Amino acid sequence: MKRRNFLRTAGPGLAGLMALPAISSSKMESLPKLPTTVNAVDPHDEAFWALVREHFPLTKDRTYLNTAGLGASPYVSINALKSKIDELEEISEPGHNQNLWHNIKTHAGHIMGCSPDEIAYTGNTTEGVSIVCNGLPLKRNDEIITSTHEHVGNIIAWLVRQKRDGIRMKTFEPSTLSAQENIDRIEKLITKKTRAISISHITTATGQVMPLKEIGELAKANNLWYFVDGAQSVGMIPLNAHEIGCDAYATSGHKWLVGPKGTGLLYVKKEMLDTIEAKWVGAYSNAGNLDLATGEVHLNPTAQRYEYGTVSVPLFVGLGASMEFLLGIGLTNIWRRVHAMGAALSRGLSDLGAEVLSPEHPDEHSAMITFRLKNVGKDKLQSFLSDNYNLRTRGIYEGGLNGIRVSLHIYNSFKDVEKVLEGVQAAKNL
Ligand SMILES: Cc1ncc(COP(=O)(O)O)c(C=O)c1O
Repeated sequence: MKRRNFLRTAGPGLAGLMALPAISSSKMESLPKLPTTVNAVDPHDEAFWALVREHFPLTKDRTYLNTAGLGASPYVSINALKSKIDELEEISEPGHNQNLWHNIKTHAGHIMGCSPDEIAYTGNTTEGVSIVCNGLPLKRNDEIITSTHEHVGNIIAWLVRQKRDGIRMKTFEPSTLSAQENIDRIEKLITKKTRAISISHITTATGQVMPLKEIGELAKANNLWYFVDGAQSVGMIPLNAHEIGCDAYATSGHKWLVGPKGTGLLYVKKEMLDTIEAKWVGAYSNAGNLDLATGEVHLNPTAQRYEYGTVSVPLFVGLGASMEFLLGIGLTNIWRRVHAMGAALSRGLSDLGAEVLSPEHPDEHSAMITFRLKNVGKDKLQSFLSDNYNLRTRGIYEGGLNGIRVSLHIYNSFKDVEKVLEGVQAAKNL
């Protein structure tokens, strides 16, 4: 295929987005076209992925390996965001309308495997965690199971509720050797008092892909609520929230979805909307009939009830453009590419004698690989890689691992993997 014909054949979204007015119109026009029928793309088709890379203004002066912290946005997203700001600031209007809201949630539904009505906009994953944690009808001594590899965003709300309401958090240490072992460890923690499981889809600590469907079956068999922290998964891995069987699933727009910073999505299963009580409510939550005299109030019958006051419409328009961009490439193609880079990095690090803390099994590792060197501490190693090889990584203190995490997204390449290996090889002699 002629590489420069890319956009004429890629998903419906990309073509539409490219017609937007430009960051500078010449810049937007000069972007390589992505094919409009994206079939299976070879994860090693460097020419294809180099074209994708051109869609990001992300500097090439350093190697960015921290999408798990913050994703870099493509031009289409930045352009959609900026254009919307310009449009709305000229008329000083919020720009919110139900069709727009629904259309953007439709893209999210395609990515998350749910209906647009089951999605609420949030500012980040942490907000989604807080809505679910505080909305569940938990009582004193109710037990919640989680892992020791969670990010603070999926810990703090539960701990505050433990302090306030007397719920009890119980944890298991994830095994990176066997998915079944994790299911067994969770099962062992279940008692008559257990009410919920709250777990990451892909852990922040080692990028481990948890066996979500099997955990969902366990939750169902024991009549437990099931919440998933998807900060590290949506935009990296194909997802079907309905198949997982979770009650709620929260993610950020600004990581693997490469959207504007300060955006998030919360999926709440239709049947759970009344169980996960909307505690913060406002005009967006309102279904229309409310009356101070009679006390009549009706919440929006969709997950929009979790949205309340004015939000930045441009941010979500930008997120919509990012999601269209990813859908145009295809989530399966994205996963195969980033997974292959993760596998190559993991193998290379092991060959160098580094201690790879991420799972080795292809079903359980992701595009985030955590490792450490016996002779060099986390902070020293991270600084060395940054100062000498221009690599932006993230230190991992979670779970007491003291490792370095490398995240590889669609703007990364196998060359970046080689750079990391070169840096780690040099660090061994420190
Ligand atoms: C698993 C996990 N959950 C939650 C968060 C918090 O994300 P946010 O700051 O977007 O709420 C992170 C951030 O890295 C994370 O890795």
